[in-house]
Amino acid sequence: MPLFNARLITNLPEDYSFSEPVPTQEPERQEYFTELCRNYVETNREKGINLTYAIVTFGCQMNVYDSERLKGVLEKMGYTEAEEREANLVIFNTCTVRENANQRLYGHLGQLKPRKKTDPNFMIGLCGCMMQEPKVVAKINESYPFVDFLFGTFNLHRLPELLFYRLQGNKRMIEVLPEPKEHVEIKGAKRKYPFKSGVNIMYGCNNFCTYCIVPYVRGRERSRTPEDILQDVRELSEEGVREIMLLGQNVNSYGTNYMEESKIVSENPDYGFPELLTDVCKIDGIHRVRFMTSHPKDLSDKLIDVIVRNPKVCRHIHLPVQIGSTRLLAAMNRRYTKEGYLALVDKIRTALPEVSLTTDIMVGFPGETEEDIDDTIDVVRRSGFDQAFTFIYSPRTGTPAATMEQIPEDIVKTRFQRLLDVVNEVAHERCGRFEGQTKEVLVEEENVQLEGYLTGRTEENILVHFPGNKELIGKFVPVKLSESKGFYYIGVCENPASAE
Ligand code: 5AD
Ligand code: SF4
Repeated sequence: MPLFNARLITNLPEDYSFSEPVPTQEPERQEYFTELCRNYVETNREKGINLTYAIVTFGCQMNVYDSERLKGVLEKMGYTEAEEREANLVIFNTCTVRENANQRLYGHLGQLKPRKKTDPNFMIGLCGCMMQEPKVVAKINESYPFVDFLFGTFNLHRLPELLFYRLQGNKRMIEVLPEPKEHVEIKGAKRKYPFKSGVNIMYGCNNFCTYCIVPYVRGRERSRTPEDILQDVRELSEEGVREIMLLGQNVNSYGTNYMEESKIVSENPDYGFPELLTDVCKIDGIHRVRFMTSHPKDLSDKLIDVIVRNPKVCRHIHLPVQIGSTRLLAAMNRRYTKEGYLALVDKIRTALPEVSLTTDIMVGFPGETEEDIDDTIDVVRRSGFDQAFTFIYSPRTGTPAATMEQIPEDIVKTRFQRLLDVVNEVAHERCGRFEGQTKEVLVEEENVQLEGYLTGRTEENILVHFPGNKELIGKFVPVKLSESKGFYYIGVCENPASAE
């Protein structure tokens, strides 16, 4: 299936002259440009100008992790991190899964425009999913001429080259590829939390749910080899990372299409997500493993069995249902039924009674009726979700559902509220189930609202606030969950000395 009207959009200079040969291979080429940008930053520093950056991230965990890697690249150049309102270079890593994310970007751009007049060093860069839409690039070109550079999802690693050309005074730099050309992993992320990290196991998606733009902007499914992934995890462990989140649009179909030859896979052609998860758990130093996202049609018995046998795998599964009605699930091309989903939930709960299940639900998909919402409410009650992310359907250009007849906004809003009330009631009940128990918590940060308190997460991904010393940040501590507050707990750490 073609990606929109697939074509390369670029204006990179071809005749730029360098005093020495520029490496043609990656990652050496981008390392070379990183060095040139570093010289630029250094020259400014000598003149008393300390160049700073901010990356503003919209969207999913994948984008959060991509942004951490871009931060790592900018730090290598000598830029230092600052707030968006102060930084000399602001990069927006965009999301286009729903229209409101697009509108937020335009809002930020409008606000930043005056800075172009007051700060001669001020630059704006755009990247991520929105940039893969030709109509967005056209709009930026026309209405936001002050944007300095722009690139897409298939060439994230090329930031140094684009930035270099722009810093040299070339006009606005644009490079958007219609599909992946080569794959280059960016090493050396600057993580928000030094003790936890995402690891991409695959890119893209082949599912083509009829409402979803992801397959168009992230391309076809491509799995990284187990060798590369395990090597990343080993390196992260050596850097002190204790919790790993394996990332993919649909992790359960990992291994359908490997990007490169793999010895492990040639010896075991059935190597897939359960095998990868098992191998990741074997790596010393890694204490917790999470994964995101699971498509219900692909979550296998084998995977459930691996989770049961590996205490390192967190008892939390995010299992987007989208809607509870079999008829609409078919229209969405989800390839499971209401009964199939409920049977899967039963199977998971029987094998892992303590598991926390979370989901995504969409309201307002074309053709939806009140009965479809009744079905969804039924699924919410019977599944007992700990948390459900509820979204109003947003038509995305190029997807099949965008051409279907849309539901009027006021009806959608009423249905949304009806569903939300049940979601909150169920989540409130579920979250309270651990009250009085002691659970291991990974301490993330000091609590900004409650002085003297720390904030951490249980393996079920439930937030806990408890009094404690900031020395505990990055450690696992036993915390008694004394009081349920609905979606989080207030707790007490009875034995901080046992932190590990
Ligand atoms: N409109 C609203 N929500 C959407 N999602 C994906 N596409 C759309 C859309 N067009 C939601 C789905 C998915 C989550 C990441 O975003 O629920 O699981
Ligand atoms: Fe979108 Fe469906 Fe792929 Fe998820 S599985 S990214 S909802 S197409």
